[in-house]
Order: sequence, then structure tokens, then C-alpha cells
Amino acid sequence: MTAQNLSDPVAFYDLRPENENFADAMRAGLSRYPKSLPCKFFYDQRGSKLFDQICALDEYYVTRTETALLISNAAEIASHLGRDCHLIEFGSGSSIKVGILLTALRGQVSYTAIDISKDHLRASTDALAQKNPDLLVTAVCADYTKPIDLPSEIVKQDGAPVVFFPGSSIGNFTAGPALEFLAQTADLLRPRNGGLLIGADLKKDEDILRAAYNDSRGITAAFNLNLLVRANAELGANFDISAFHHDAIYNASLGRIEMYLVSDRQQSVKIGSSSYSFAEGEAIHTENSHKYGVEQFQAMASAVGFEPVKVWIDEENLFSVHFLRVI
Ligand SMILES: C[S@@+](CC[C@H](N)C(=O)[O-])C[C@H]1O[C@@H](n2cnc3c(N)ncnc32)[C@H](O)[C@@H]1O
Repeated sequence: MTAQNLSDPVAFYDLRPENENFADAMRAGLSRYPKSLPCKFFYDQRGSKLFDQICALDEYYVTRTETALLISNAAEIASHLGRDCHLIEFGSGSSIKVGILLTALRGQVSYTAIDISKDHLRASTDALAQKNPDLLVTAVCADYTKPIDLPSEIVKQDGAPVVFFPGSSIGNFTAGPALEFLAQTADLLRPRNGGLLIGADLKKDEDILRAAYNDSRGITAAFNLNLLVRANAELGANFDISAFHHDAIYNASLGRIEMYLVSDRQQSVKIGSSSYSFAEGEAIHTENSHKYGVEQFQAMASAVGFEPVKVWIDEENLFSVHFLRVI
């Protein structure tokens, strides 16, 4: 763990998540059939910026709807979170949504941002600390799909901990890992009777879903293809980016959007001394985004020790924000 520099406004801890190597993940992912890669590798600097552009798209109702829910219910949410709370955000990205909560929270609030994308995490938490000089801000570069050994200073913060997990990032996990993640979160919160504020995308009309993940400006395509751009830059791979295209389909039986990078022709790609062949139309599965009914999500969280307290849903039934307390 990298020690913090006490003169910085943000205490920064690097738990070195890149130790689980992009190169190893690429090798393993392209050697299996069907080919697949973990979505956490989307987020280098360029990937994080492209994700912010996705959030601003008309078709991508997710960010707009969740943000509106947080704004219009901020006072009620803050009353559930209580005074002096310690917010811990997993996958904090640009730390924009937490700013909405801060306008309503009372007392000495502290905030720990956890993200895998180191440079973006640094820039976002520095900007947040500058805007909110009274806020205690800590940044932890770590992979939340693994157990995180949080620095003891964070665990010992005075306020009741609340894990904030917006953006429907829970939807990226398949069923087993989603339960494991929620169970790990419950274990983190249990010693201090903490809570979980989490955004979960709702099941809905498939046309709305398909449009959201296949936007007309091609930003989601660029975000998906950035995995190959990143492999070329960091691993010396020779992907011909123009010979792959993005696709996102709705898998109704599994209740999820699936994103793919599809090979436009038969081709072979080199990464170091290894080569990987692609048939025409063969796809790399790059992301899942599961959609949940309200009761379905609450049942999953209850199974690992959460008690549903309140759920906020927009008028069009697009998105849900849940507050749950650990028992
Ligand atoms: C979909 S964005 C959400 C950002 C923000 N929380 C929001 O709701 O707008 C996902 C964020 O999680 C981070 N992330 C993705 N996988 C991660 C992982 N396994 N561990 C830590 N951070 C991760 C990405 O770097 C990115 O900033």
C-alpha cells in the first residue's frame, strides 16, 4: 500500500489493483471459448472520459434518471443516512453523484472513494476536496471485485458507514458474484450498523434498453472498442480496430444487456508472442448489465443480511435507488 502524503487534501492509498494484470486477463479471455474479458479493464483514462460522455447521452437514461432521483429525494435520503455519516463509494468514477448527497447531509461528513482507475480517481477526488473544503476525503485505488483490506484509519472513522454504489454497477455482476459482493459489503458495514445506498436499473421495454447501449453517436461503441485500443497501447497487441464492431443485445431470459466486440472478418491478432484467431462474426463478450425488479433486488440483498428500508423509483419506472440497512 502506498503511504499517504499528509500535505495532500486527499489521503491517497494505492492497493495496486493492476497486479491482476491486464495482459493475463487478455490471454485467458481470448483463449477461452466463447471469448470474454472482464469489464473492469474498460476504465483507463480514456475509458473513464468516454464513460462520462455516455452519461450525458440522451439515450442513456441511467445517469439522468438516477441523478434526478437523488436530487429530488436528497433530504429524505440524508435523513436515512443520519448525521456525521461516512460515505464509502465503490467505483466512484468522477464523484459527481456524491456531490448531490453532500448538499443535504448534515454534520461532519467523510467520504472514501474507491476506484480501479488511478489517475481518474486522483483527479476526481482532488476536485471534490477543493469544492468541499470541510469534507474529509480519502481515495483508495483498489478492485472492488476482490476483498478490500481498507486502511485502518478508514475503518475507524467516527460516523456510521454508508456504502454508496450508484450507476447500477451491481448489474455488471452475474448472480453468484453479485451475492458475494453484497455479502462482503454487509460484513464491512455490520460492526457499525451501517447502510447501503445502491442504484439498480429496472427491467423495461427492450427498445429503450437497446437504444441506451447502442447510442446513435457511437460513444458506447468507442468505449467498448477502447479495450482493444488499450491492448494495442499497453500490451503491444496488433488489433485492427476497424475490423471489429460494437454490439449490445438484450438477453431476456437472463434479464441483462450483453455487450460484445464482434470480428468483421476471419483474422488473427498477436499479443506478444501469442496469436489468437477470430472467425468472421466471432465475438468477445465484454460486459453484462443486469436489470432487476424491485422485489427481486430486495430478495437478493435480504439473502445476505440486508433489510430493505426505502426504495425511490422515477415516474417512468426506469430506475431504482434502494436504501438498506445491515442486520
Ligand atoms: C459505470 S462507472 C460508475 C461511476 C459512478 N459511480 C457513477 O455512478 O456515475 C464505473 C466506475 O467503477 C470503476 N470500476 C469498474 N470496475 C471496478 C472494479 N472492479 N474495482 C474498482 N473500480 C471499478 C470504474 O473505473 C468507473 O469509474
